Amino acid sequence: MSDVLELVDVSVVRDGRALVDRVSWSVAEGERWVILGPNGAGKTTLLNIASSYLFPTTGTAQILGEKLGGVDVFELRPRIGMAGSALAERLPRSQTVLQTVLTAAYGMTAGWQEDYEEVDEARARAFLDRLGMSDHLDRRFGTLSEGERKRTQIARALMTDPELLLLDEPAAGLDLGGREDLVRRLGRLARDPYAPSMIMVTHHVEEIAPGFTHVLLIRRGKVLEAGPIPEVLTSANLSRCFGLPLVVENRGDRWTAQGLPLT
Ligand SMILES: Nc1ncnc2c1ncn2[C@@H]1O[C@H](COP(=O)(O)OP(=O)(O)OP(=O)(O)O)[C@@H](O)[C@H]1O
Ligand SMILES: [Mg+2]
Repeated sequence: MSDVLELVDVSVVRDGRALVDRVSWSVAEGERWVILGPNGAGKTTLLNIASSYLFPTTGTAQILGEKLGGVDVFELRPRIGMAGSALAERLPRSQTVLQTVLTAAYGMTAGWQEDYEEVDEARARAFLDRLGMSDHLDRRFGTLSEGERKRTQIARALMTDPELLLLDEPAAGLDLGGREDLVRRLGRLARDPYAPSMIMVTHHVEEIAPGFTHVLLIRRGKVLEAGPIPEVLTSANLSRCFGLPLVVENRGDRWTAQGLPLT
């Protein structure tokens, strides 16, 4: 299987500090990765490289077979779907849900035209339906709840039929019901053999949907461990990653983690 993403010895240095520190990491086609790590660990920075919006200071990054720096990023970007709060802020609040998803087909965050192809509109409706947004097609993006906004963004990210889907904390800000609903939908996507390769950043093992296959643990810009979830997601590794004693449990196809009680 070919690599969707290959980072070799990648560092991102700002103000003399390595935000990402000599990271080597490969994502093969069809794999579904979770990136876990504390605030400020470098998770979003890694996703920004994977989305071709940030170039490494040193090291090499290859995305979908193309080397960053040696390829026109404007050809690469439509092949990558991304959802995250930074992108959500750039989406016009006055556009409807349907328009928000449709504009993705044309590689824009703004600019509604009336002459979209019917086939595109049908696709946008189908993705919104898959994300449970069919009842909100005409609502303005700015009036949506946090959960509805996240689901709209994921539908939007799928619209270009990406080969790689990047999700930055898709469940942040959701209530318990909203989180469980999203985990279920992401699980369905993760297990769909026709769905793109996926990388999802999260802070919580509870948000790992069934169907995700691999996990990368990052702390202070350095990769602690990366590999298949059952091997890597141990109490010892997660404790090291978050810097406190944690107990990780696996029940069925879901995960939980909690701190050890103080003695
Ligand atoms: N352009 C920049 N210049 C200087 N420092 C930056 C820049 N961008 C990010 N950082 C710093 O790099 C570190 C990693 O940031 P990043 O956003 O990747 O963390 P994260 O793991 O996504 O954190 P969180 O869980 O809080 O979202 C942080 O300490 C952040 O303050
Ligand atoms: Mg982040």
